[in-house]
Amino acid sequence: MPLPPAPIAPDDETHWAAVRARYAVSPDFINLENGFFGVQATPVHEAFQRYQAELNRENSYFLRVRFPERLANVMRLLAEFTGAAPDELHITRNLMESLNILIQGYPFAAGDAVLMADHDYDSVIDTLEMVAARKQLELIRVRLPLDPDSDEQIVDIYEQAITPRTQVLLVTHLWHRTGQIMPVQKIAAMARRHGIDVMVDAAHSFAHLDYRLAELGADFVGVNLHKWLGAPLGVGLLYIRRERIVDIAPLFGDVRPDAGDIRKLGHVGTVPPAPILAVEDALAFHHAIGARNKEARLRYLTQYWLDRVRGLPGVRILTPRASERSCAIAAFAIDGIPAAQVVAHLMARHRIFTVVRDIADSGQAVRVTPHLYIGTGELDALVAAIAELAASNRRAA
Ligand SMILES: Cc1ncc(COP(=O)(O)O)c(C=O)c1O
Repeated sequence: MPLPPAPIAPDDETHWAAVRARYAVSPDFINLENGFFGVQATPVHEAFQRYQAELNRENSYFLRVRFPERLANVMRLLAEFTGAAPDELHITRNLMESLNILIQGYPFAAGDAVLMADHDYDSVIDTLEMVAARKQLELIRVRLPLDPDSDEQIVDIYEQAITPRTQVLLVTHLWHRTGQIMPVQKIAAMARRHGIDVMVDAAHSFAHLDYRLAELGADFVGVNLHKWLGAPLGVGLLYIRRERIVDIAPLFGDVRPDAGDIRKLGHVGTVPPAPILAVEDALAFHHAIGARNKEARLRYLTQYWLDRVRGLPGVRILTPRASERSCAIAAFAIDGIPAAQVVAHLMARHRIFTVVRDIADSGQAVRVTPHLYIGTGELDALVAAIAELAASNRRAA
């Protein structure tokens, strides 16, 4: 792996303005909804377009002759980045494909239980419910505090919900609803003591937080590369610890590879190679910024607007107070105004784009997700808009 670049202060606006200049985004609105997928930085997008043009020129020669070697290089780079071996990784189309391979292929027996949380991702919960109905599994859901006191509190809540039939614990590393970060290593260590397998939904944490996937202590991890790594849409990753590959049955028909070969899980048919090849460029861009610098800047941006909004009468923050428990994603609500109305108002009046998210027992909230191309000026506009809306709501009440 390239050596990390020099540390950059998260509030060094001159430096971060130069990073911003490497993204070409719409000037028509302020995009604070970067939680769906990531804008590709310009060098990544240009590389992607070049690969697409090469593919179109060379057709099957590209895919049959040139692609395998280049794919092997992408796998090598991903292995370096994640700390896993290339034969423990498989490129998928997105996180949902990775988790479907895991959940549908896991050797559950009728009566087994799966432990999960209310704040996990809706489609992952749907997949578990579907498999639970087919295989007669019990799903046990815990509710976690929005502002936990400690990692131990979280680990305890999961541990208390374990039964003798619990086989798998599903944990979302970074919640897409409020941005809360789970202490995955500690949860995985606890689960291991009970002989329970851990599946991690790392959709939002990967290349957002500075960590290495193989260090999470989980045998099964799903990732998408089109969120925070900034690869083109349509690339995800699956990690399975080598010794456990044999335990997962293929979701897509393939009887040729051995049971211990991760490629047995990947027979989805013809896939577009350009997004996969652009992973190399996305990794290079990520390394040039520096994983630690990126995480610190994203956290700084979130804390910047939260600090200015927290304490405004009628405004509730649903993201943990301790800054290390979140990063780029945070959520707020204004008492008495439905979140959808806040989102509509922000866009119509201020050209600020956000999104509504359900927060289990706390109703709905407005999720705000800046990216590296967002600066403090845009966050000042958000803060002013929230303050004005909360104040006019109080006056009307
Ligand atoms: C926590 C979480 N899990 C899973 C997903 C699904 O990711 P994908 O659409 O790439 O499969 C998302 C997407 O927003 C997410 O936020």
